[in-house]
Amino acid sequence: MNVRITGTGSALPGKILTNAELEQLVDTSDEWITTRTGIKERRIAAEGEYTSTFAAEAARRAMTMAGALPEEIDLIIVATVTPDFPFPSTACIVQDLLGASNATAFDLSAACSGFIYGLSIAEKYLRSGSARKILVIGSEILSRVVDWKDRNTCVLFGDGAGAVVLEGSEGDHSLLSTHTFSNGTHWNLLYQPGSGSRNPATDPRTIAEGRIYLTMEGNDVFKHAVRAMGEAAEAALAANSLSAADIGLLIPHQANQRIVDATSKRLGLGSDRVFTNLDRYGNTSSASIPIALDEANRQGVLKPGCKLMMVAFGGGFTYGSALVNW
Ligand code: ACO
Repeated sequence: MNVRITGTGSALPGKILTNAELEQLVDTSDEWITTRTGIKERRIAAEGEYTSTFAAEAARRAMTMAGALPEEIDLIIVATVTPDFPFPSTACIVQDLLGASNATAFDLSAACSGFIYGLSIAEKYLRSGSARKILVIGSEILSRVVDWKDRNTCVLFGDGAGAVVLEGSEGDHSLLSTHTFSNGTHWNLLYQPGSGSRNPATDPRTIAEGRIYLTMEGNDVFKHAVRAMGEAAEAALAANSLSAADIGLLIPHQANQRIVDATSKRLGLGSDRVFTNLDRYGNTSSASIPIALDEANRQGVLKPGCKLMMVAFGGGFTYGSALVNW
C-alpha cells in the first residue's frame, strides 16, 4: 500500500508583529534580525486563540481539499510543544472541534521535527492497514513560551498551524520514505525548563526565576542543525537511489535563512528549488513545514511528479526527512 498526501491546509493568526515593532520591545534592529535570520515579521495569536484553534482550522482546510469527512478520519496526530494543556492532548480537543468521532487522537513531542515524525508514524499506520485516513497537524503558539525581554530568542519565533490528510493509495504519487533521528545528548541546548516535573508551574520559583521560558544556545544549535538536516536529506536520497539533481523542491524547517542556505548548499540545490516563507512567519516549530507545504501546493509550485524533500531539525535534538513523489 502506498501513502499519498491528498490535502493540505494552514491557519495563521491575523496579528502581524514586524521587526520595527520589536525594536520598541527589546534592544534590536530590523537590520540585525534580517541579516542574521531572514525574518521580517511573524504572526502572534490573540487572546482567546489557542494551539487547537489553528490546528482545527488548518485541518478543516486540508480535509476540504482532500474531500474527507470528519467521521472518515481514523487518526489525528498533533505535533506540538505548546499544547493547550499538559493534558488532555490537543489532538483530543481538535477531534472534538472537528467532530471526528471515529478517530484515535494523540499529541507528539518532537519540537521542530514534529511534523516529519508525524508523517513517519502515519505512514506506518497506513502501510499496515491500521488506518485509512489520517490527519497530521503541526501547531504552535510559541509567543506564549518566549521571554519578550530576551532579544536572543523573542525575535525568532511565531505562531500558526499546518496540516495534511494522508490516505492509502495504489498510485505512484506517494510518500516515498520517511527517516527520523534523535540525539538526546544535547537536550539542554534548546528547551523549556519550566512547567514540567523538574520545575513545576506550582513552584513559585519557576516563574520568579524565569524558568518558564524557552531557552536556546543559538550558535551551537545552528551548527548541529546544518549537519543534521544534511544527514537526514542524504539518508532519504540514498534510500531511494536518488541524487540531489532529482529533487524538484526542498521544503526545509523554516528556522533561519542562514541554516536554509547552508543546508541547500550542502545538498547542491540552488535557491530556485528551495521554498521559504520564514520572512513572513519566523520559526513556527512543528508548524513550519506544513504551512510552507500548503503555500507551495496552493501556489502551484508543486507539479505532479515533482520530487519533494522535506527536512527538519529541532529540540531534543530531533531531526528527519520525508521524500514525496508529488
Ligand atoms: N538583536 C540585536 N543583537 C542581538 C540579538 C538581537 N535580536 N540577539 C542577539 N544579539 C547579539 C548578541 O547579544 C551578541 O552580542 P555580543 O557579541 O555583544 O555578545 C551578538 O548579537 C551575536 O550573537 P550570536 O548569538 O553570536 O549571533 P548569531 O550570529 O549566532 O545569531 C541566532 C543568533 C540568530 C540565534 C543564530 O545563532 C541562530 O539562528 N541559531 C539557530 C537558532 C535556531 O534556528 N533555532 C531553531 C532551530 S531548532 C528549532 O527550530 C526549535
